Amino acid sequence: MKKAIRTENTPVVSHPVTSLRGVAAVPGDKSVSHRALMLSAIAEGETVVTGLLEGEDVLHTADAMRAMGAKIEKKDDTWHIRGAAALQQPAGELYLGNSGTSARLLAGLVAGFPLTAVFTGDASLSKRPMKRVTVPLTQMGAKFEGDKLPMKVIGGNLKAITYTLPVASAQVKSAVLLAGLNAAGETVVIEPQPTRDHTEKMLRQFGVEIAVDGAEIRLQGGQKLKSPAMLHVPADPSAAAFPVVAALITQDSDIIVPNVMMNPRRDGLYTTLLEMGADIAFENRRGASGEEVADIRVRSSELKGVTVPPERAPSMIDEFPILAIAAAFAEGETVMTGLGELRVKESDRLAAVADMLAGAGVTVEAGEESLRVTGGQPKGGCTVATHLDHRIAMSALVLGMAAAEPVFIDSAGMIATSFPDFTGLMNGLGAEIGA
Ligand code: S3P
Repeated sequence: MKKAIRTENTPVVSHPVTSLRGVAAVPGDKSVSHRALMLSAIAEGETVVTGLLEGEDVLHTADAMRAMGAKIEKKDDTWHIRGAAALQQPAGELYLGNSGTSARLLAGLVAGFPLTAVFTGDASLSKRPMKRVTVPLTQMGAKFEGDKLPMKVIGGNLKAITYTLPVASAQVKSAVLLAGLNAAGETVVIEPQPTRDHTEKMLRQFGVEIAVDGAEIRLQGGQKLKSPAMLHVPADPSAAAFPVVAALITQDSDIIVPNVMMNPRRDGLYTTLLEMGADIAFENRRGASGEEVADIRVRSSELKGVTVPPERAPSMIDEFPILAIAAAFAEGETVMTGLGELRVKESDRLAAVADMLAGAGVTVEAGEESLRVTGGQPKGGCTVATHLDHRIAMSALVLGMAAAEPVFIDSAGMIATSFPDFTGLMNGLGAEIGA
């Protein structure tokens, strides 16, 4: 499989600006986009998907599904996917770039078919733990060589298990459920804390019976997926987080982010920002393809530090880097706990955030699983090491918009994994991000 063409080392600077104004149409949700491609690719019939995120991570999932027999084409702004019912043996390795969601979910999906696939990834993905999926999938009967990428998956002949997740992870939950589709018997997953439920919701849209009773999710093996014909991917609340925080911390800002998914298992950042005193309104709430969406209006705000309860972490797991930026501009201390999972994201995000803030002159204390940020007026005037992590890169650029001095990042290339037009969109609102 061809590797994505991307300029890895493109240093970029974000200058302080006085105002952000306008409409920020952020791309489709990354989690929903991956699942839309994977489920359509094993369903009977053709699925037309609108709003798909065309970020590198999702395009790697599309390439992998093509390599295993699905027909996937883009026509104008819509994606057309014709399923392969049974996935086929891929001819070469499946290169998954930076995408943990592709690797974890595909491990589960592929495990259910009698084929062998080798997953490879970039330097960041190759360091990330895969044991969290190989342990339950091995119990189901799949075989693996390697517990980091490159990793060989040998699938087929699975039996259902009951599995209590040792960590709150939607990726692990989804891997077991996707394997359960082709396992003999009833697969049961028990979650320690609620995590994003896009797999469960979308499986239902494909006609799969899945029972959710509190923390327990049950799925009978052998069910066939039927295309719902159309799927719409709403805008990504995790991508919206960047312009939202940018508007809050810059002076004289007033923006709208339209059509953002309001899933209650993804809204922890918004709850926290409201507690901090943010001027955010959720307008025109409406339903779209099984999810609620809203247009988010955000105006510059005087923020106050808060303590974020640890049980909220799964609903904002990708948003701690940008919350830390908001906290750096708030009055008083913000305390975040229950952050152990941040250490195994695209980078060690806890360390990366602490280094970024300290470099910008912010008082920050990092514990093994916690972060304490003392707000004020960050100085900036630093270069942030992004460690191939898109969310660290975007957070640093937002920091530069409101800091006293510009903020540089070592590389902006990986922003394309989740938010390809981030710079164009932010500059359209009034940001000054450039080479
Ligand atoms: C995701 C789940 C989360 C999140 C990731 C996307 C998903 O990971 O961080 O960006 O689509 O299921 P974990 O399951 O590892 O928490």
